[in-house]
Amino acid sequence: MQDRSPVSSEISKSGRAREWGLLHIRDGKPYSPLFEDVYYSGDGLDEVEHVFLAPCGLAERFASGERVVVGELGFGTGLNFLCALRMFRESASPEARLDYISCERHPLSSEDLQRACPPVPELQSLTRDLCERYPPCPFGVHPLSFDDDRVTLTLVFEDVADAMASYPRDVNAWFLDGFAPDRNVAMWAGGIMGAIADRSAPSACVSTYTASGTVKRGLREAGFTVKRHPGYGKKRHMLVGTYGGAG
Ligand SMILES: C[S@@+](CC[C@H](N)C(=O)[O-])C[C@H]1O[C@@H](n2cnc3c(N)ncnc32)[C@H](O)[C@@H]1O
Repeated sequence: MQDRSPVSSEISKSGRAREWGLLHIRDGKPYSPLFEDVYYSGDGLDEVEHVFLAPCGLAERFASGERVVVGELGFGTGLNFLCALRMFRESASPEARLDYISCERHPLSSEDLQRACPPVPELQSLTRDLCERYPPCPFGVHPLSFDDDRVTLTLVFEDVADAMASYPRDVNAWFLDGFAPDRNVAMWAGGIMGAIADRSAPSACVSTYTASGTVKRGLREAGFTVKRHPGYGKKRHMLVGTYGGAG
């Protein structure tokens, strides 16, 4: 039978066939036909700033010379990483470091990362930096380096349940960015919340665009103090938490 897949298919170490994920562009926005959802809303940039970078205080931490370890769930188009890299380049003092680790079960090809990038010249240039280093296959663990090793990106192209073992135990900012919990249950399961807690530094920040009661309860049961914040765009609320926090 003819292979109708529009993308390359390979066999991972575990013997599973793997393909690059599928990306559609719908109304100008990157869209996943598998999850029937968009990767980001608005122009993307404001949303990333509002939901992830600001609540976890990344600009201040970079400016004060901290090493920040970001753990993301759901690499997708890479936009969250690119915005964090841009912020690092704009605000980091010389001692600052960014170690960013992210997992992805359906990685997009580098061609699709470029298609998905918002039409902002600075981001398109950052996307080219990423694509120059991007892994050649859609499975496995891939450490990438930027800015003379001051920024590292570890891409774990595995299901989140397998990927968590590759995360370090000192993550201090979590970006929970699976698709909506009702259509992407695996990304928000109680076991995943427990693994996040196990891999959190004291007082680690967690932020996510969703205000789902299931996610809030899961995080609380795992040891996070969680509060609702004003959401981005049409969303009334989102969640921000602190590991081991009081209150
Ligand atoms: C909302 S998108 C992420 C958007 C992304 N952070 C960005 O900047 O574009 C959610 C991502 O989670 C991935 N995903 C869904 N289920 C997964 C699973 N079980 N394990 C790992 N990744 C998964 C999807 O393929 C998708 O890329």
